Amino acid sequence: MNFAATLAATAAACALAAPAAAQFSKPEDAVKYRQSIMFVMSQHFGRVGAMANGRVPFDAKAAADNADFVAELSRMPWPAYVAGTDKGQTRAKSEIWAEPAKFRELNDKLMAETGKLQVAAKTGNLDNMKKAFGDTAAVCKSCHDAFRKD
Ligand code: HEC
Repeated sequence: MNFAATLAATAAACALAAPAAAQFSKPEDAVKYRQSIMFVMSQHFGRVGAMANGRVPFDAKAAADNADFVAELSRMPWPAYVAGTDKGQTRAKSEIWAEPAKFRELNDKLMAETGKLQVAAKTGNLDNMKKAFGDTAAVCKSCHDAFRKD
């Protein structure tokens, strides 16, 4: 590989690694980043929920597409809980940094449950999706109860 190709490959690898190794130029950016992801995730989760709760007709393709977004987005906000970002325009409680293992466990649980939601949505079976939606929503709630100011 010549130098330019090496450089291009490195740049591509960095771009792919970006969400996992998120770097922020200022603390407010980290807060805005994680809130934005939660907001977008909740929009897609809400669309699955509307079908699970019978508020809109079940559309298997739309359910699967939205569940895919939720699962992807559920991997992203955690590196933005940078130390010292419990101040300012945030609802994050300082317990996140006092009990990091418990917070991480709930991150993992959300990723696991949204993965199951993704699988359930792909079965095209409304009952499977309802169950997975309920299980996922319970994780959202338990983390918000413990780690988010209301
Ligand atoms: C591991 C903990 C955790 C889990 C799980 C979690 N959240 Fe959150 N969520 C938070 C925290 C902490 C905040 C506050 C972030 C801030 O203000 O800096 C938040 C904020 C939000 C917000 C407000 C975003 C904004 O615009 O400020 C929404 C909406 C939200 N979460 C939806 C969800 C949904 C839907 C789920 C489940 C699919 C979920 N969350 C799962 C911790 C969690």
